[in-house]
Amino acid sequence: MKGVILAGGLGTRLYPLTKVTNKHLLPVYDKPMIYYPIQTLINAGIDDILVVTGGNNAGDFLKLLGNGKEFGLKHMNYTYQEGEGGIAEALRLAEFFAAGEKICVVLGDNIIEKNIRRAVKNFQKQKKGAKILLKEVPDPQRFGVPELREDRIVRVEEKPKRPKSQYAVIGIYLYDQEVFNIIKTLKPSNRGELEITDVNNRYIEKGLMTWDILEGWWTDAGTFESLLRANQLVAQTGANKLEGLKFETRN
Ligand code: G1P
Repeated sequence: MKGVILAGGLGTRLYPLTKVTNKHLLPVYDKPMIYYPIQTLINAGIDDILVVTGGNNAGDFLKLLGNGKEFGLKHMNYTYQEGEGGIAEALRLAEFFAAGEKICVVLGDNIIEKNIRRAVKNFQKQKKGAKILLKEVPDPQRFGVPELREDRIVRVEEKPKRPKSQYAVIGIYLYDQEVFNIIKTLKPSNRGELEITDVNNRYIEKGLMTWDILEGWWTDAGTFESLLRANQLVAQTGANKLEGLKFETRN
């Protein structure tokens, strides 16, 4: 399975922090934000990784990450998203990289405490379709929210005013190669973006969506409140550690 990190966008919700730099280069406690999703993939055993970037200072990703040596990687792949067309539009740029393999997509501002190894393993066994990860949150209206009937997801609603459950669909998605055909059929939402929630609803309609509950804490870091929370959580309890890999911390 290959990994895709979406680290584009203009990060307008964090303006002026993002006036001269990309959101995913901002610090979260003692590391740049992008380090955490990279760790998430590596901890799940995924080491063939594409970073989709865009917006301000995209070149800084190369300077920061190079070929991923600090993470024990031999190579890192990059691509550039022009403009801000949404998560699904950014993902479309990964089609060539995926080359028919299953992918694990991580939003560059999503940070988790533990790891997703079990979900990735289960998805490897799944013949086709997709898998999403859910986490119970106090403020589901900020996220994609699943409507559950018994243990089946019947629909995901993007930022609903009246959420139908207390769960958020977190920004870690597992897809088969069909995802790229689905993206080609999407229409922009009210906010002018190709929505990842629309992709997930297509898989649900086809009866090809499975889900897991994420263990440990999860946060995004795309608003002032969540960025502060991400800093506090990482400082207090640490995020997903690189288990046994060649990660060097510089003193
Ligand atoms: C995006 C997705 C949303 C998901 C969230 C997770 O929201 O659209 O469904 O729950 O990421 O971080 P955004 O942060 O782009 O508003």
